[in-house]
Amino acid sequence: MQEETIDVKNILGLQLPTDPRWVDLTAISLEEILTDHAYCEQKAATTCITLIQRYSEYEKLITELAPIVTEEWGHFRAVLAELHKRGLKLGRQRKDIYVNELLSFQKKVGHVDDRFLDELLTMALIEARSCERFKRLSEGLHDDYMKKFYRKFMESEAGHYTLFITMAEHYLPKPKVRKRWKEWLEFEKELMNRMEIRGDRIH
Ligand SMILES: [Fe+2]
Ligand SMILES: [Fe+2]
Repeated sequence: MQEETIDVKNILGLQLPTDPRWVDLTAISLEEILTDHAYCEQKAATTCITLIQRYSEYEKLITELAPIVTEEWGHFRAVLAELHKRGLKLGRQRKDIYVNELLSFQKKVGHVDDRFLDELLTMALIEARSCERFKRLSEGLHDDYMKKFYRKFMESEAGHYTLFITMAEHYLPKPKVRKRWKEWLEFEKELMNRMEIRGDRIH
């Protein structure tokens, strides 16, 4: 992986770094944070499948997304295996405030291109923020095994973030994508500012 893909501020474009206290909070309950992580992976896989169903005429998109489904499901299985290895259980899925807030910012009416763009940018943003969070964990935890565990996810999600932006630019004019991406980044910054820091959530 290229070094610049992990430069959170410049490459991911995220406007607000994660509060450093969050990493320590996640160490309190591995069962809770791994449960939340597992469902993040499940939702990533499910959303890619939904995009394939919804935009089946976009051949390049479905060709690119099909293997991502496998990868995300592989991530789910890796997290599940980690839970089981430790004698922990996958808990119930909790309300995902972060994702729900992002969905509320999506354009639900208007031209299909605008809705398509927002769906791709929502995914890009979730991947970017997840990548940033995994980076924090891989650097800030005290457990060497878990640092390596999260580093693998960080590298994978960095590739996904760029894929969703690339797909948007493949189907839509670049200036349009860039303009809307900036609006998304601003919205996410404001969202991160007002969200409670919780150690039992990836976001
Ligand atoms: Fe993933
Ligand atoms: Fe991903």
